[in-house]
Amino acid sequence: MQPSEAVKAYYDTRAPEYDEWYLGRGIFARRDRPGWHEELAVLCAAISSLPPVRTLDVACGTGFLTRHLQGQVTALDQSEQMLAIAAERLPEATLVQGDALELPFEDDSFDRVFTGHFYGHLSGEERAAFLSEARRLAAELVVVDSAVRPDHEREEWQTRVLNDGSRHRVYKRYFDADQLAVELGGGTVLYAGDWFVMVTTGEQVATSR
Ligand SMILES: C[S@@+](CC[C@H](N)C(=O)[O-])C[C@H]1O[C@@H](n2cnc3c(N)ncnc32)[C@H](O)[C@@H]1O
Repeated sequence: MQPSEAVKAYYDTRAPEYDEWYLGRGIFARRDRPGWHEELAVLCAAISSLPPVRTLDVACGTGFLTRHLQGQVTALDQSEQMLAIAAERLPEATLVQGDALELPFEDDSFDRVFTGHFYGHLSGEERAAFLSEARRLAAELVVVDSAVRPDHEREEWQTRVLNDGSRHRVYKRYFDADQLAVELGGGTVLYAGDWFVMVTTGEQVATSR
């Protein structure tokens, strides 16, 4: 199940401007996002405090969150453009171009699969494939994603406009952390903010806001 041409085109085009979303630059400078930067700092600290084990970051993008993972890190993405940026940011990590739904690794190759802002873009069938792959590769899965927002449906199709004016249709979900833990087959909420959630299927100590 390869990512569609539309998904590839969207992320390849978005790669050089992707971090503007995190940093509140470009078109995101005009967005009113109260508490965003403070929460992002807490989220990054929570990622840093995960025990340093062999971790695979699936759909790592530019490596913005990946760089906070401790221990031996492998970072995978389908997009060459995303990986080129991640490579500069993650000199110690192993970078792999591949499909998150057919991961190119042997069973039990890692202790943890980590994924940020990827799970919420998957359809039901894709979710099942990803979760099966994550379980095959590691005992623990950590999912970071967007929290439920008052101005968004929990599940919606969005039209995203990039800096070059291109328009892209993107499927996106917003999560209640406790419900995400249940959906993942049982887990612990590590972070539940107004903007981000982080859930592990392993045993960890939650970070307070
Ligand atoms: C919203 S970005 C998230 C990037 C990063 N993990 C973060 O939290 O900022 C989604 C990423 O998923 C990647 N992606 C989408 N479908 C994929 C697939 N089937 N296999 C691997 N990567 C995929 C895209 O190239 C993109 O880098």
